[in-house]
Amino acid sequence: MKYGYFDNENREYVITRPDAPAPWTNYLGTEKFCSVISHNAGGYAFYNSPEYNRITKFRTNASFDRPGHYVYLRDDDTGDYWSISWQPVAKSLNEANYEVRHGLSYSKFRCEYSSIVATKTLFVPKGEDVEIWDVVIRNTGDTPRKISAFSFVEFSFSHIASDNQNHQMSLYSAGTSYQQGVIEYDLFYNTDEFEGFYYLASTFEPDSYDGQRDQFLGLYRDESNPIAVEQGQCSNSAQTCYNHCGSLHKQFELQPGEEVRFAYLLGIGKGNGQRLRQHYQKPHNVDSAFAQIQQHWQQRCDQFQVRSPNPGLDTMINTWTLYQAETCVVWSRFASFIEVGGRTGLGYRDTAQDAISVPHTNPDKTRKRLIDLLRGQVQAGYGLHLFDPDWFDPDKADVAPSKSPTVVPTPSNEDKIHGIKDTCSDDHLWLIPTICRYVMETGDHDFIDQVIPYADGGEDTVYQHMKAALDFSALHVGQSGICKGLRADWNDCLNLGGGESAMVSFLHFWALQEFIALAQYRGKTQDAEHYTRMAADVKEACESELWDEEGGWYIRGLTQQGDKIGTAQQTEGRIHLESNTLAVLSGLAEPARGQQAMDAVDQHLFSDYGLHLNAPSFSTPNDDIGFVTRVYQGVKENGAIFSHPNPWAWVAEAKLGRGDRAMKFYDALNPYNQNDMIEKRIAEPYSYVQFVMGRDHQDHGRANHPWLTGTSGWAYFAVTNFILGIRTGFDALTIDPCIPTDWPGFEVTRQWRGARYVITVENPSGVSKGVKRIQLNGSAIEGDILAQPQGTVNHVVVTLG
Ligand code: NOJ
Repeated sequence: MKYGYFDNENREYVITRPDAPAPWTNYLGTEKFCSVISHNAGGYAFYNSPEYNRITKFRTNASFDRPGHYVYLRDDDTGDYWSISWQPVAKSLNEANYEVRHGLSYSKFRCEYSSIVATKTLFVPKGEDVEIWDVVIRNTGDTPRKISAFSFVEFSFSHIASDNQNHQMSLYSAGTSYQQGVIEYDLFYNTDEFEGFYYLASTFEPDSYDGQRDQFLGLYRDESNPIAVEQGQCSNSAQTCYNHCGSLHKQFELQPGEEVRFAYLLGIGKGNGQRLRQHYQKPHNVDSAFAQIQQHWQQRCDQFQVRSPNPGLDTMINTWTLYQAETCVVWSRFASFIEVGGRTGLGYRDTAQDAISVPHTNPDKTRKRLIDLLRGQVQAGYGLHLFDPDWFDPDKADVAPSKSPTVVPTPSNEDKIHGIKDTCSDDHLWLIPTICRYVMETGDHDFIDQVIPYADGGEDTVYQHMKAALDFSALHVGQSGICKGLRADWNDCLNLGGGESAMVSFLHFWALQEFIALAQYRGKTQDAEHYTRMAADVKEACESELWDEEGGWYIRGLTQQGDKIGTAQQTEGRIHLESNTLAVLSGLAEPARGQQAMDAVDQHLFSDYGLHLNAPSFSTPNDDIGFVTRVYQGVKENGAIFSHPNPWAWVAEAKLGRGDRAMKFYDALNPYNQNDMIEKRIAEPYSYVQFVMGRDHQDHGRANHPWLTGTSGWAYFAVTNFILGIRTGFDALTIDPCIPTDWPGFEVTRQWRGARYVITVENPSGVSKGVKRIQLNGSAIEGDILAQPQGTVNHVVVTLG
């Protein structure tokens, strides 16, 4: 069963049936103002932080996604009314046609009902903190019509998200006022004329308005049947206290074939409503703001485009996976319909991994995120698992951030740094490959010498921060020389404490390889030698302690008692994805063991929906292993198809040269391939999800938690760098694909350091890997392609064989 299709030309997903089995969401905004909006226009807006600057209200845990950013239409001759999005009025789908186009940072809703065609395009322009609702209403009938339009948003109780559950004070802490087409909302304790000061404006002169929610909705009603819309008139309410909304109403008379266009504006900052309603009264200003958003994404997408024999891969890599990866980097991980803004800040490992995927499209944000993370690293080398970058800004150390001084907490160092007991064993290691990839992409070598403070005092160069991270992991090993598990490793629910984590030792090895290459490039011979010896020790420990001969795979770790986790002898948690994939991805496993381990992954963990994290799932609580043994079977970290490490398997297979296997794994997880089986998948088919129910759960195949998952960044990185095999180096571009044997070839256009590379890969002998010939601009070359002068267009032909 399907509910829509991919429109690749417009880079849109088009929802043709609004009764999809879950809210399918999109993100609006590219700077500080963000809205998370569903295909039924449910959702919420925030400024910068979904926790502390919540603009509109959203209720969770209900079977519908309300409230939202709605426009109601009413036939003033008959009293019939509907909404441009299917919800909240929900006209019968036999009478009304709805279409929703989720595009890159915009969503366009279209409704055709009773000879009226209406569209509403929501987007956040660049350079302004406002969400524009570009509305067009057209009379397609043959009689004149009187049509009223009403906006509706419900303002957040305060600018703190959690206050929406706490009525004691929040009922009395905010007010609305109305002046000349603008409903302003403010907080009585607001000391700022920007944050906590929200508005809803219209470009028309309203006939009526409501700032009080209950006046608009009416008693014992909800968003599906507001009294104001039913009666065709708001009650001009605006005052302090209670619940607040933004409804601006106007009646239009439309002759047959006539249309009217206007905009609603949902924004932040005192006075901005009046200023922007004047500006956007000129439709060409709306058009040019929208064009800028399209250019923003065009420029990003242009950095890497592929044309291959796999249409699902092309659609995802060219548009959706990049878009999702950028969303995770720009908006962090705390704003979706699942994570509704309960926390502010950055997950250390999440951010470090997300950032590896977009240095080519968003180098500034990648650099900023790296600095945020390096500031959250302590001198001992580990990272603090969750933090607000403001807390670590050396200029603001332990003082309130300049904005919202009344609400953003400012914890002391003791509150933030709990030492080893609160430390995750992997967080800091992810920094190293990401820093290296950032420098390779941009050539910003000065970054490595930049001095950045530590979270617990002192400062050092990025280079020394990297060494501190590697040294921490070398120091914190258990008896067998494998890295300790500490509070958790990548797997939040594997709480090994003083036990040991195979996954972290493999990650350590990978980080060491990346760092050694950097040290060698910078002529730091002693460091290169020192860390090469460290890597050799890690390898020796891993190969002697972690290989399970009977199973033919790498175990997952050891408990504090020295019991092995993940052996063929066990009946549950026998084999794990993270250790086996990272053993190969890191380059640690010799090919024979690597192949055997990945064969076991295929045999025991593969499903039609992707690779399980572990199998069989745990059913017996064991606190030496961790919370994972208490999670329901087949769910999340306990035997689900946890998406994030799936791309590690694609990289592993690509490194082994097995392109058919890499693509089999890729295709299984690819949401695009589940577009026609939404009755099973439920979640949107244009977004990777955190996990898919595993085979030990009755909903096997159901996809959960879309958008905010490290899967997107890793999927993008794995496909572009290892399957398509186009990798930047410190000075040169490597082209080393690993593709299915039945691919005759593929084409990529790639921008790198101001030059364009038009790459054609030919595969006449039907191999997966191995470059036989490479031509640059008509001449044969050996090895990698040195960076070409800025502004040049370079034609590269690669022949595999
Ligand atoms: C989600 C967390 O955000 C991420 O940091 C973690 O690696 C995975 N869960 C797996 O536990």
